[in-house]
Amino acid sequence: LDNGLALTPPMGWLSWERFRCNIDCKKDPKNCISENLYVEMADMMVFKGYKQYGYQYVNIDDCWSEMSRDSNGTLVADRERFPRGIKWLADYVHFRGLKLGIYGDVGIKTCGGYPGSLNYYQKDAQTFAEWGVDMVKLDGCYASMSDMATGYPQMSYYLNQTGRPILYSCSWPAYQVEARIVPDYKKIASYCNIWRNYKDVQDSWDSVEDIMDFYANNSGHFAEVARPGQFNDPDMLIVGDYGLSYGQQTIQMSIWAILAAPMMISADLRNMKEESKDLLQNEMLLRISQDMYGIQGKRIIKDGNVEVWTKQMGINAKAVAFAFLNVGTDGTPVEVSYQFSRLGLTEAEGYNVTNVLEEKFFGVLRPTDYVNVTVYPTSAWLGYADFDC
Ligand code: GLA
Repeated sequence: LDNGLALTPPMGWLSWERFRCNIDCKKDPKNCISENLYVEMADMMVFKGYKQYGYQYVNIDDCWSEMSRDSNGTLVADRERFPRGIKWLADYVHFRGLKLGIYGDVGIKTCGGYPGSLNYYQKDAQTFAEWGVDMVKLDGCYASMSDMATGYPQMSYYLNQTGRPILYSCSWPAYQVEARIVPDYKKIASYCNIWRNYKDVQDSWDSVEDIMDFYANNSGHFAEVARPGQFNDPDMLIVGDYGLSYGQQTIQMSIWAILAAPMMISADLRNMKEESKDLLQNEMLLRISQDMYGIQGKRIIKDGNVEVWTKQMGINAKAVAFAFLNVGTDGTPVEVSYQFSRLGLTEAEGYNVTNVLEEKFFGVLRPTDYVNVTVYPTSAWLGYADFDC
């Protein structure tokens, strides 16, 4: 979507995967979907350094509103859990130098059963803009395929009409893929800044691996559509949650960066292991993610448990990020060895190569050289090769 937003993949925090639809603030005041949760996450984004690394959006997901609209048909935030309303929260988040995202649905209800925007697109776009919202995720529950075909473009139009820059995230193709319809990604990209293609991420390695395979297969050729202003969204980062080992977290981070995917953390920033925080704040990894050309990388080799993914970056693609993955669970480190030219690195003078995860210089490699590294079970080795002309 050509609205000047998402020129690089958006970075931030989103409540869904970790905090779900927990609305019991009596029993669980620290973790329920409430004003307090987003205030604390905005604070953590600043005080724990995330903001400094480019994480910007603090996003509300489902279950934030009252069960019905007010007498004017306007959406209202839950009066107990958001006593000061969304406008106040947006002001608070802005005061922290961050941006606020909200969640809605193109159909009659949200996935959690809260009011959807069907028949209210214009009204809700205006409400969001008046509140000072900076990003809208529009889900597709309780909607027919034809509701989506009209609703997603209409919401895009009305958000634009508000005059407020609002990043627009669509779930449209995810529902088409689920219904075995091949999405028209060019069309979707003309209306949406980012869009979900596939299933929800869950807190497990199986889920991450399944999403990665879907992205590697690239059926419907969605990878080719990615560029500044329009990115595929393989869903949230679950780095820092319960389900992934440290090695598996390095895989999710490396592949999401290579895919030019939105980097939306869904974890508790108040209690995060240092190693996860450091991974989320790996400067060179984030540079790979935020490369200004916004090219979506691909899996170029799958050889048993070894996978090689690459992403062209930099001016004239003279830099390349590459990840070697060992997706095996058999407990044995794998020695990986590929000739550099096989990764698309063809400049005869050679490249300066960085070991990104360990943040250290690896060496100078020419196209005929072999890169030899050890990759631990369900772990990544992420490299960045820069052609210095
Ligand atoms: C769908 C979406 C999720 C989340 C939930 C909320 O499943 O794909 O990301 O927003 O709805 O109910």
